[in-house]
Amino acid sequence: MAEDRQVEVAKGVFFSAWTYNGTVPGPVIRATEDDLLRVTFANAGSHPHTIHFHGIHPSNMDGVFETVEPGASYTYEFPARPYGMQLYHCHSTPLKKHIAKGLYGAFIIDPPKLRKPAQELVMVLTGFDTDGDGENNFYGVNGPAFYFAKYPIRVRRSQTVRIYLANLTEFDPINSFHLHGDFFRYYPTGSSDYFEYTDTVMLCQGQRGIIEIDFANTGRFMFHAHQSEFTELGWMGFFEVID
Ligand code: CU
Ligand code: CU
Repeated sequence: MAEDRQVEVAKGVFFSAWTYNGTVPGPVIRATEDDLLRVTFANAGSHPHTIHFHGIHPSNMDGVFETVEPGASYTYEFPARPYGMQLYHCHSTPLKKHIAKGLYGAFIIDPPKLRKPAQELVMVLTGFDTDGDGENNFYGVNGPAFYFAKYPIRVRRSQTVRIYLANLTEFDPINSFHLHGDFFRYYPTGSSDYFEYTDTVMLCQGQRGIIEIDFANTGRFMFHAHQSEFTELGWMGFFEVID
């Protein structure tokens, strides 16, 4: 459901967001490849919205032409494909505004033969323009600035950490993910076995992929955007790796 909502984006700073189900990012949608996905979308917000999914589906399920007016609803129904890390966002115009206001989320499609067990996380990269000047004032992962600096993510060295990563930041042409103290496998879109072995990935808006980390050491390791400005404005956090 789309609704207008004040969300806290940094300590004591509230942002007039347009949300899916009351949060920015919206809920994670997860399916297995070829599952029939059915999403009933009700617009309880103040503007026309849609849900545009990335992936393979018919034109009338693409969330571009069938605009859902305030008070109306629409049902999206199609088989989920291809497997990988997909995403969804509103595609009403002006598109820039509808994304910057917070209408987006992660859409994970698992392969028919499931990936090996891992410690799984979703990270959606966000930016918030709180003063309306067309530039972001705060950056974050899954929402508020500095959240995972305040609450480090505890993981085990003995098990792979799998991150479903997507960049939905508006206004800035690129964002990135950089890990300290280790390297990881990065599968762009997660839709094939191809991967890059690196410690930094760059993503434009809408780019996403799957990261797999096998930590070699225990201790506290930072992860952050490799744009220093984004880091200082909230996009950084820590892993606490334990045995
Ligand atoms: Cu919208
Ligand atoms: Cu898109």
